[in-house]
Amino acid sequence: MKVAKVVLVTGASSGIGRAAAAMLHDRGHIVYGTSRDPERHPAAWRMIRLDVADDSSVAAAMATILAEQSRIDAVVNNAGLVLAGAVEDTTLAEARQLFETNLFGALRVTRAALPAMRAQRAGVIVNIGSLAGRVGLPFQGLYSASKFALEGLSESLRLEVAGFGVQVTLVAPGDTATSVVDNRQRTEASGLEASAYAGVFPRVLATFEAEERAGSPAVGVARRIADIVEGRATAPRYVVGPLAQRILVAGRAFIPARLFQWGLGIYYRLRP
Ligand SMILES: NC(=O)c1ccc[n+]([C@@H]2O[C@H](COP(=O)([O-])OP(=O)(O)OC[C@H]3O[C@@H](n4cnc5c(N)ncnc54)[C@H](OP(=O)(O)O)[C@@H]3O)[C@@H](O)[C@H]2O)c1
Repeated sequence: MKVAKVVLVTGASSGIGRAAAAMLHDRGHIVYGTSRDPERHPAAWRMIRLDVADDSSVAAAMATILAEQSRIDAVVNNAGLVLAGAVEDTTLAEARQLFETNLFGALRVTRAALPAMRAQRAGVIVNIGSLAGRVGLPFQGLYSASKFALEGLSESLRLEVAGFGVQVTLVAPGDTATSVVDNRQRTEASGLEASAYAGVFPRVLATFEAEERAGSPAVGVARRIADIVEGRATAPRYVVGPLAQRILVAGRAFIPARLFQWGLGIYYRLRP
């Protein structure tokens, strides 16, 4: 008989997080989904308040789960933001804000969950990376940086906690049709005519938006997440999403870096 697991899914108000929470709920697990505004996002599973960028909010959410369930079997670190704009046009404040959610948010939630998981001698942590964490994308440099960093964190952590019975796995989705296009933030300077990148940025952004709108359904990513939570997928990393993008990531190792970058430049129309 399958045992119901207690699972925390951050950012379950939309997109990949919502699809993952729904699938885990349908498979009989006890799901705690989160939003910074849970009342606006009612669901068949429990929605609780969580801002991953806030220490006390993370502590309160974890305390609620442990008080109600006395255990936490899995955490899906899915909450994330996308920031578009040239690297040069990104202020340190904007960069820090992005990392506060995409990297330090996952770190906060992980650190809050690990003491209970170590005590249980069991647990699963699923970090949602991105194709942009495998390939540096133009005009999403800070986003790429945050997801590359999450890859490194996941690999290191996996080695450290395996001895306590805790599994860490990163899922790197390619383009997925979610609210990401509407929720994408832009650096303030990227909208200014004075920006040195004012000509090229809109072209690249249009390519991103077209790719994301035509992305794979979130349910494919959700299925992989649910399989990891249930212990049926145990690898360090899974790349999921459109076939062409998965081939691109896998093929990268065999293509000279200069040629690979040239191809990206053509694809994203970096030169008119
Ligand atoms: N869609 C894609 O093509 C794609 C591709 C690769 C990777 N990803 C990654 O997949 C994850 C989910 O993205 P998505 O496409 O599903 O985006 P989405 O539809 O925009 O959903 C983002 C989620 O993150 C939550 N969130 C944002 N900031 C938060 C914070 N400070 N604290 C807590 N929750 C926060 C939002 O919840 P509230 O606003 O309700 O708090 C929302 O539920 C992200 O990590 C993203 O980088 C997406």
